[in-house]
Amino acid sequence: MRTPIIAGNWKMYKNVGEAVETARKLEERVQDSPVEVVICAPFTNLPALSALGLTKVKLGAQNMYFEDQGAFTGEIAPGMLLDVGCEYVILGHSERRQIFKEDDELINKKVLKALNVGLKPILCVGETLEERRAGRTEEVVVAQTTRALAGAAAEQLTNLVIAYEPVWAIGTGENCDAEDANQVIARIRQTLAELYTADLAQQVRIQYGGSVKPANIKEFMEQPEIDGALVGGASLDVDSFTSIIRY
Ligand code: PGA
Repeated sequence: MRTPIIAGNWKMYKNVGEAVETARKLEERVQDSPVEVVICAPFTNLPALSALGLTKVKLGAQNMYFEDQGAFTGEIAPGMLLDVGCEYVILGHSERRQIFKEDDELINKKVLKALNVGLKPILCVGETLEERRAGRTEEVVVAQTTRALAGAAAEQLTNLVIAYEPVWAIGTGENCDAEDANQVIARIRQTLAELYTADLAQQVRIQYGGSVKPANIKEFMEQPEIDGALVGGASLDVDSFTSIIRY
């Protein structure tokens, strides 16, 4: 059985005070939830969040570089994330792909590095509206998944989380139909089975992301292939994120 995982992606929102307040309240409210709960906060919030010593709510970052250290102005190393209590790191988010021009090759290096240092990647894949209209959804997610995982060892795979996030559903209020998302996620799992083994593919958790809110989370979680959600906008408010986790 795969433990459901619901992660909040706070993107470029919340100063330290706001982050601490939200995380404290969340920790109290979801204590007894069977769901694994993660907050992926801006880098500047991580030391203060780590100092709270949260036990139920786990910490994640939203990006990292693939080198240990060096002259890489503006970048954050994997070891720095471990140092401030991160267990997870989002990699290949569509905003990184589109705005910051990250390609599959760069994302692959980051995924391998994260797995090698013991950070759990939340690897994002998903098609654009144009690709969906052209009937290319499955082809796109299969290619993104395959390229991102090139060189990843089978024994590292249980630390991987994949988030299927159709680009057109992110921040738009327009979510993917739950059965549709289930079908795409089944295709991603099949890709894992082809690349590794059917047994390993069954162990990897695959989330849906894109306009998840309290009103639609249940539909997604009822799907057999969907193991959780990556939540942007609706994770910023503690009431709405709590209701999502307690779906
Ligand atoms: P959203 O964002 O929930 O605001 O659509 C999801 C994401 O970007 O991970």
